Amino acid sequence: MQILRAMTLNFTNDPFKVGPEHAAQLNTDGAVCIENGVIIDVGSYDRIGKTYPNTPVEHYTNHLICAGFVDAHVHYPQTGIIASWGKRLIDWLNTYTFPEEMKFHDPAYAQTVAGRYLDLALDHGTTTVASYCTIHPESVDAVFQAAQSRNMRIVAGKTCMDRNAPDGLRDTAQLAYDDSNTLIQRWHGIGRGTYAITPRFSPTSTPDQLAALGALWAENPSCLMQTHLSEQTDEIEWVASLFPSARDYLDTYETFGLLGDRGIYGHAIHLRPREIDRLAEVGAAVVHCPTSNTFIGSGLFDAVGLRAAGITAGLATDTGGGSNFSMLRTMATAYEIGQLRGNALHPAHLFWLATVGSAQALHLQDKIGNLAIGQEADIIAINLASTPAIAQRFAQADDAWQAVFPTLMMGDDRAISASWIAGKKRI
Ligand code: GUN
Ligand code: ZN
Repeated sequence: MQILRAMTLNFTNDPFKVGPEHAAQLNTDGAVCIENGVIIDVGSYDRIGKTYPNTPVEHYTNHLICAGFVDAHVHYPQTGIIASWGKRLIDWLNTYTFPEEMKFHDPAYAQTVAGRYLDLALDHGTTTVASYCTIHPESVDAVFQAAQSRNMRIVAGKTCMDRNAPDGLRDTAQLAYDDSNTLIQRWHGIGRGTYAITPRFSPTSTPDQLAALGALWAENPSCLMQTHLSEQTDEIEWVASLFPSARDYLDTYETFGLLGDRGIYGHAIHLRPREIDRLAEVGAAVVHCPTSNTFIGSGLFDAVGLRAAGITAGLATDTGGGSNFSMLRTMATAYEIGQLRGNALHPAHLFWLATVGSAQALHLQDKIGNLAIGQEADIIAINLASTPAIAQRFAQADDAWQAVFPTLMMGDDRAISASWIAGKKRI
């Protein structure tokens, strides 16, 4: 058993529904008690210290302890091309992404990048990711193995594409079904892993492939399904020309059995009213990727509107369309996008999206994303004075949220002092 003592943040409700003050608990002298990799108590240090006497205490002064970040949409194979200049989505895919993804037919390369990516994620305080792989099954094995060796919770799946992608980066409807099926048997529900059936997006799958993956999902309903939706206006026009009978972009998934409550739709920026209604009706999740949306020039996600419509939402870096590995930087950009839309998101909204919201999107909210009794102890300690610029602002804070917000806006991996994966401190 061990106790971590610091300022602590936990959620007892959804800040988008009941307001930050009724949903978030920020305890200036809080504590978490961990036993056998699980959180067994959370509360004031005063109570916890007395309840578990003679238990070792790690005290982090000027730190915030909270759940590890959950990054609900990344492409680990794009680690090597993050921050590539000058292109919008389709050109960016063709110029930078596809040539890099081609390299993942080599298992050694896949293993190297998977390990490098997960270490970078952990360095930035991210303890769980949902990652796209490439069309190569080796790329899927590599990331599940790398997560397993770090005991990290992970969601991942083989990215399926059978058109509008270069030679060497296309499968077929049947191969996508067969390979994904084999990988589900190998990785889904093994240890801390979840398999996500992963059609990249409608432009790179034929109707036959979308139908095959819809059938596979129906046969494996406990799997997640992740894809992209309505990221850029050119992309939406392209989808309309490829699927002339579809009512809208979401319909290209719905028609083929790829809309459901375990579906996770990345970006979801330029949605039509019918799409919003359908996502809410089926209980699907959308994922906000703010640094990607500004970097590739996609648009302004409507976090407040979509949450008000009853849609589950998570937060993500979208590495390497996103320009950073840090969920702190991602929260900062989510805040800025909110401001551009006229909504000043409270830090509780931002932390909630990066932890509980993303965990809900991945259907892992009973396991991770919060400091709560029974949760797996994936925890981080964030230094609230990690640079001179942040420290001088922290020193002037009048209340606890003001003490946290400068780190949220200006912090990065230098703010992550420690992390615990299932209760074990990462060295
Ligand atoms: N749409 C389809 N593929 C991708 C991708 O790799 N990154 C982003 N940002 N959007 C996509
Ligand atoms: Zn993406």
